[in-house]
Amino acid sequence: MCWVFGYIGAPGKAAREVLAGLQRLEYRGYDSAGICVINPDKNLEVIKAVGKVNNLKVKTDSIDFSTYHAGIGHTRWATHGGVTEANCHPHLSQSGRFVVIHNGIIENYAELRDELIAKGYVFHSETDTEVTVHLFEDIFDGDYLSTMTKLVAKMHGAYGLVFLDRDNGNQIFGTKKGSPMVLGFGKTERYISSDYRSLIGLIDDYIILEDGDIFLVTLDNYTILSGWQDADRTRQIVGEDEKVVELGDFPNFMLKEVFEQPRVLEDVFRGRIDFSSNSLHSDTLEHIAMLGIKKVTIVASGTSYHAGLLGKYYLEELSNIPVDVVVSTEFKYKKKFVSSDELYIFVSQSGETIDTLDSLKIVKEQWGHVFGIVNVPGSAIARAAGQGLFTRAGTEVGVASTKAFVTQVACFLFLSLYLGQKNGLDYRKYREIIDSIAKLPEAISSILLSNEAIRKVAEKYANSTNFFYLGRAHELVIAMEGSLKLKELAYIHSEAYSSGELKHGSIALIDSDFPSLMINGGGILSPKNASSAEEIRARGGPVIGIIAKDDPNKQVYADVIEFDPLISELNPFLEVVILQLFAYHIANFLGRDVDKPRNLAKSVTVE
Ligand code: G6P
Repeated sequence: MCWVFGYIGAPGKAAREVLAGLQRLEYRGYDSAGICVINPDKNLEVIKAVGKVNNLKVKTDSIDFSTYHAGIGHTRWATHGGVTEANCHPHLSQSGRFVVIHNGIIENYAELRDELIAKGYVFHSETDTEVTVHLFEDIFDGDYLSTMTKLVAKMHGAYGLVFLDRDNGNQIFGTKKGSPMVLGFGKTERYISSDYRSLIGLIDDYIILEDGDIFLVTLDNYTILSGWQDADRTRQIVGEDEKVVELGDFPNFMLKEVFEQPRVLEDVFRGRIDFSSNSLHSDTLEHIAMLGIKKVTIVASGTSYHAGLLGKYYLEELSNIPVDVVVSTEFKYKKKFVSSDELYIFVSQSGETIDTLDSLKIVKEQWGHVFGIVNVPGSAIARAAGQGLFTRAGTEVGVASTKAFVTQVACFLFLSLYLGQKNGLDYRKYREIIDSIAKLPEAISSILLSNEAIRKVAEKYANSTNFFYLGRAHELVIAMEGSLKLKELAYIHSEAYSSGELKHGSIALIDSDFPSLMINGGGILSPKNASSAEEIRARGGPVIGIIAKDDPNKQVYADVIEFDPLISELNPFLEVVILQLFAYHIANFLGRDVDKPRNLAKSVTVE
């Protein structure tokens, strides 16, 4: 997605601070970037570049920014208009006085654009954003906040807008609806950002802006309006343990985050499961358990949707509660039957995915019980849900989600056990699962030790152009997640199928150049998966088995990646790590940017 960053402070620092801010936000959206800096002499510099922020940095190297004290910058994920310099933000008003950056979509931009063109405004880009700055200039009444209220009244859609005025560079002003935005307060500097974590190390405290807020910040003061009133927003202190995420010895964040999975799986259960007494602890879940929930609907997108699909298995099998799982883009516009004995669970790593957030708001408006499974405290979904479980995965920088996924699944497992113990879950099963959870971090560590073996198999198949990912039940969900990882990271077409369903049509695609991965770690469905692998082999298709070390059907597979299984309910945690590494190594072999795959964004704040 697009991300905004603003700075006001000491002369000479604006360009450096804004560029550094953009680099910290870059993982969230990165097809082009631009900055605008101003100085007290009413000079304004706009620099833009297609591609990574580094391209922009190179362009700024020879410019003397020593007098520039304020600036704004933007990383773009194209929505309206191609990836060109003309479409890069910032955009200037007709006279060149005002300049804007924007995250979101102005839905009525075409209509506003026509009105402005009729008045003589000339557009230089294909973006929806450019209307906002021309319109602001058109209606400017000498007062930034007053003009902003008028601008907001004319726009439909989602926006985080940040403006500068060349003629008065002592302030930054803007508004937000639907797109995240924070004001950050340093000792002698003020910042605006889409994510307060990009400000860690720079600020002492920050304010999370709410939808509808209009703000104006100077070095000495700030005003936030909500509607026509002054809004009293809490200044939140940056925690002492919050650090800028470093790569350490890893070549990229994706690999680092894959290797963090044993640790995050300890963190997610810490204080929630007492392994010495086999007891579960959560005031939030105690409250949920008392609601008498008869049905659960899970709403999420992307990898979080896959976590929700595994959540369905756990909740149905362990808590005996029927579950629907709906992608948030579909949920938002479908008919809803909200009732008081239903729980709606919204899953999101970032806590900012607009479709998931909007879906939550719709359920809340109908007085439904909402619950968040979110990684980022303070995010919009965490705040709107008001109750839920934090996944405690820490900042995830790699765009393809890894450690956040396993912790989301862990939260579903914990929730299912919690509700299960009140809902007739068999005690032996409960103990068996708790015992296996205790072994999870070590079991994942031993998968990570097989990294080299996984790389060898992955590279053997790296030039294939299609893959099937196959499995049943829990393992079908892992097949779906593994297939998504391959698409995201390596740009290779793959499809996930129930291994039993393949024969109903898609097996026609199988030939010697079409490999399949069979996710088959054991359990009662294991022989059925092996039979499906036989059927593929009989048609010349190579099958890579992701299998238990003691699998009796090993001979079916062209190649195997073996692991020491846990109980079948918990094997998905291990299998997904193998598939993350499998996709990672193919992508690496093909020279892809694994942290920032093409066309993607870490957090999707537009519809
Ligand atoms: C984007 C990311 C995916 C992520 C999805 C949902 O598409 O690239 O990795 O799974 O959004 O994001 P969320 O933050 O809601 O989990």
